[in-house]
Amino acid sequence: MADLKSTTPHLERYYAKRASEYEQIYDKPERQNELEWLRRRVPEILRGRTVLEVACGTGYWTQFIAREAAHVHACDINDAVLEIAREKPIAAGRASFFKADAVTLEGVPPGCDAAFAGFWWSHVKKSDIARFVERLARRLAPGALVGILDNRFAEGSSTAISRRDAEGNTYQMRRLASGEEYEVLKNFPTAEELADAVRPIAREAHLETLNYYWLLVFRLR
Ligand SMILES: C[S@@+](CC[C@H](N)C(=O)[O-])C[C@H]1O[C@@H](n2cnc3c(N)ncnc32)[C@H](O)[C@@H]1O
Repeated sequence: MADLKSTTPHLERYYAKRASEYEQIYDKPERQNELEWLRRRVPEILRGRTVLEVACGTGYWTQFIAREAAHVHACDINDAVLEIAREKPIAAGRASFFKADAVTLEGVPPGCDAAFAGFWWSHVKKSDIARFVERLARRLAPGALVGILDNRFAEGSSTAISRRDAEGNTYQMRRLASGEEYEVLKNFPTAEELADAVRPIAREAHLETLNYYWLLVFRLR
């Protein structure tokens, strides 16, 4: 069935090829103050919990979360990024990495009482968000805490939007160091869209809005 498979093969390929240059995104000078704040804030909200990290990429956030969490089960669909993530300086036993599709979330270990997804939400089509949220909730313990971090569009800092489709999804043209270009789905949801998306599964939700980022924290029913 189409909806049980990843719907983003193009996105997967783009990130597989971008693996070695991915973390350059965290070097943008104008974003350093906010990133410093987030490197403290994200682990703080997940302190002591057993965390499922969705689409962990190169483990950039995993390394900080693992300092405070009981354990991080971090997954991504791409071996190329997981290989880099496994080399992160993380204390033994504090994180494990496995391959899983964020669309199906198959293979997620039971017992997670928290989840984190960094820069994944923006790559999910508007029409697929409800299903992502509902599947994520099903993988977690009741009352689990969820942190979702993603970008706000910032003129002059963000890559320009190249196209908008009929349902309002937006796209960017991304160029790799090799010169290859990819069209990548990248949505910038409003606070109202975020609140609507999590309302069916969240007991309480709080949106922390910065200049370049937003952090949505909610607790499952
Ligand atoms: C924008 S990166 C975010 C990486 C990491 N969370 C971070 O914040 O640094 C998006 C990640 O999604 C992964 N990805 C793409 N399609 C996926 C899918 N269907 N299931 C799981 N991960 C996927 C890519 O390999 C990439 O690592």
